[in-house]
Amino acid sequence: MTARPTNLDPYWMPFTANRAFKQAPRMFVAAKDMHYVTDDGRQVLDGTAGLWCVNAGHCRPRIVEAVQKQVAAMDYSPAFQMGHPDAFRVAERIAALTPGDLDRVFYCNSGSEGVDTALKIALAYHRARGEGQRNVLIGRERGYHGAGFGGISVGGIPANRKAFGNMLFRVDHLAHTHNLAENAFSRGQPAWGAHLADELENRIIPLHDAGNIAAVIVEPLAGSTGVLVPPKGYLERLRQICDKHGLLLIFDEVITGFGRTGPCFAADAVGVVPDMMIIAKGLTNGTVPMGAVVVREDIYDAVINSAPPGMVELFHGYTYSGHPLATAAALASLDTFEEEGLFQRAQELAPYFEQAVQSLRELPHVIDVRNMGMVAGIELEPRHGEPTARAFEAFLKCYEDGALIRTTGDIIALSPPLIISKSQIDELIGIIAQALRAGGRR
Ligand SMILES: Cc1ncc(COP(=O)(O)O)c(C=O)c1O
Repeated sequence: MTARPTNLDPYWMPFTANRAFKQAPRMFVAAKDMHYVTDDGRQVLDGTAGLWCVNAGHCRPRIVEAVQKQVAAMDYSPAFQMGHPDAFRVAERIAALTPGDLDRVFYCNSGSEGVDTALKIALAYHRARGEGQRNVLIGRERGYHGAGFGGISVGGIPANRKAFGNMLFRVDHLAHTHNLAENAFSRGQPAWGAHLADELENRIIPLHDAGNIAAVIVEPLAGSTGVLVPPKGYLERLRQICDKHGLLLIFDEVITGFGRTGPCFAADAVGVVPDMMIIAKGLTNGTVPMGAVVVREDIYDAVINSAPPGMVELFHGYTYSGHPLATAAALASLDTFEEEGLFQRAQELAPYFEQAVQSLRELPHVIDVRNMGMVAGIELEPRHGEPTARAFEAFLKCYEDGALIRTTGDIIALSPPLIISKSQIDELIGIIAQALRAGGRR
């Protein structure tokens, strides 16, 4: 159905200004490769891979066919006490892609569920080892870990937390790493900021006692809060401190997974192997909801072996864990990434993308441009008394002019599909430049 519905009221849209949207709706009705098509027939260049998920571009034939075939063959298979072959195949493929001994895969249906799952596994693991008192969870300011109670508790975005009262209560947060005075206009990982990881050892561990802390969860590159690129050495330092004190390090790679920062995972880009990794989005190229938590083999072993034989070991899971449509989409997506060498392509395109986005620094009100791999953040000076307005106006102007960008606060985030061509990068940056010039007059 492509005609615009007459009644927009019943749908309560997520993370959307519902009233403004319903007065002036923006609707997509089709997509192919690098473009969306609007309901008034306009092509819109996708500068954001949907919501950071369509890494191989839209409606790729192999993935479409795999999902179509699967829905006709077996629509659903129970996730508990039953299996289906592709669920095991996808787990094997994921285990082969993830670094180190991240070899055991627990399925869920979204990044938010992945975060809850990882936090629960961390608690279950320590309890299984007789250290159940380790139940403090450490997140980071400006972190985004989805919208569940677990995720908003360890997350650090004030607007996502303020209306919701009690969250997980044994939680603390590291300071974020964003510092314009030190790092504005950095290309790739900024040089300043590794020392910020020391707060874990200097403040948080003494306050809570290492023996009470279960895990530290961070996005290796914070996406939703405005593309905060990890300072050189920062994640390495977190890893060392976690190792020294027996804390699990969880990387939330929901955005960074599957080529966004260049290699398959940001963990590969920085050479740091976490104890658990949360993935979603790109895993199925955005086609069918799917997430997963990938854990070290010995974490799995500890939990599994602590239960009596024949008994369920982890009382956790979802009706749609490892859904057959999702596993079909995941296999076809991983095949597409591999056959087309998309992670390699991301690494090769990154310098061109960097050059293009950094050219925006001269435009009115641009106070920072930062980038890593195929992701970039362009920070604008907020208009006095109207925070977020400047970036959102740029979003609307870009949409009118044929490009989809994403904004968070007064920051524009770009994360195009990895199939983008150089001329499409130029087109995207050209449209943004025009929008910033237009906005510069106010
Ligand atoms: C780092 C990170 N974690 C978790 C999530 C939540 O994923 P979902 O929206 O699939 O629940 C997101 C979503 O953008 C994310 O960026």
